[in-house]
Amino acid sequence: MEDLSPRPGDLEPIETASRDEIAALQLDRMKWSLGHAYANSAFYRARFDEHGVHPDDLKTLADLAKFPFTLKTDLRDTYPFGMFAVPREKLARVHASSGTTGKPTVVGYTARDIDTWADLVARSIRASGGRAGDIVHISYGYGLFTGGLGAHYGAERLGCTVVPVSGGMTERQVTLITDFKPRVIMVTPSYMLSILDAFQRAGLDPRESSLAVGIFGAEPWTNAMRAEIEAAFDMHAVDIYGLSEVMGPGVANECVETKDGLHLWEDHFYPEIIDPATGEVLPDGELGELVFTTLTKEGLPIVRYRTRDLTRLLPGTARSMRRIEKITGRSDDMIILRGVNIFPTQIEEQILKCAGLAPHFQIELTRSGRMDAMTVHTEATAAAADAGARSASERELGHHIKSTLGVTAKVVVHEPGGAPRSEGKAQRVRDNRGAG
Ligand code: DLL
Repeated sequence: MEDLSPRPGDLEPIETASRDEIAALQLDRMKWSLGHAYANSAFYRARFDEHGVHPDDLKTLADLAKFPFTLKTDLRDTYPFGMFAVPREKLARVHASSGTTGKPTVVGYTARDIDTWADLVARSIRASGGRAGDIVHISYGYGLFTGGLGAHYGAERLGCTVVPVSGGMTERQVTLITDFKPRVIMVTPSYMLSILDAFQRAGLDPRESSLAVGIFGAEPWTNAMRAEIEAAFDMHAVDIYGLSEVMGPGVANECVETKDGLHLWEDHFYPEIIDPATGEVLPDGELGELVFTTLTKEGLPIVRYRTRDLTRLLPGTARSMRRIEKITGRSDDMIILRGVNIFPTQIEEQILKCAGLAPHFQIELTRSGRMDAMTVHTEATAAAADAGARSASERELGHHIKSTLGVTAKVVVHEPGGAPRSEGKAQRVRDNRGAG
């Protein structure tokens, strides 16, 4: 794989600023952001008043802990436009996330917010090894989801040629990659695996494709999956993080030269890690729930938004801004099986240890009586597809799960192509416990 370390002059000055400079900028911007939220959002004015706090109470960054959290339910309760801090006519765009229940959550951007977003996605693509002049194939969904359009504007901002394919029609994705020869692809890691399948079905060697960099996010994925994708395509696989409530893709991104967690773009977002049970702020390095306060957003400033994502804050390496460790999972996706906490990413790691298994899976939860059971549905590689090899793989994966996670899982190894495929965010868990 190519060495894609940044060249002199590649980085914006803020990417190499000292911690003191970053903190001073954050404090200035945080004062502005809290003041803006209080002055212009009826929601925040009421919330701060209820808690007896005022933007003037923020003298240091640590004072942020005095302010109340914002939850996803707050966005739902103010559906559709009740959280905004600018008149509706000032919004250049809205996005929404569907969620699994009820009304979607709606987020809005002023023209300046869209501009900042484009800058940050451009920075993220550059951190991933993309450059002006590259062809960028975008398979994140276009529409109310922030993935497609967020990636699109950022790639344009960097000076790339954008191919706005969106998700789906997987055979056509392969044709376009083969014919247009993009250097960069932006897509969920699970859909990249579906594209890999389609390459193989077409009898094409993915290692011969033009792709040099993949920018993968919108769902949890492991370093084991990174190794799998990098080997399959002979490309760099880099992690991008974001969420609609805070902006969309490009809140944090890995640097291709280190691939050691995601640098948070701290000039625009202030992170905290809290204990999810008590709400207490935890020191850097400890595992907990990631919380964000936006520092520059006009349309939807957000104060202490509880993401439900579990990670830790780490010092900067390739950039001076802090990193988050690759996300283990969301507290919402945590499976509690007979008292043991399990994340789908832990199952992914075990599947990738088994030579006879392809990296596709879905976890099914069932209940009989008062006992919960977990079935892992995965599939055989073409080379290990006969009945004997499949039952050996079932035993092997069951053994890995038992010895690393301490739980007994039923494993079903389907024929090649038998496990569900993703066209966007993979649905890793099917919970049938209420069904019986
Ligand atoms: O998924 C934004 C995005 C689009 C990020 C494209 C990256 C690439 P939402 O649909 O609002 O926004 O979902 C946000 O997805 O809270 C995480 O739980 C999860 N997520 C996003 N990126 C990652 C990642 C977009 N790199 C939710 N690793 C977040 C793990 C991620 N989880």
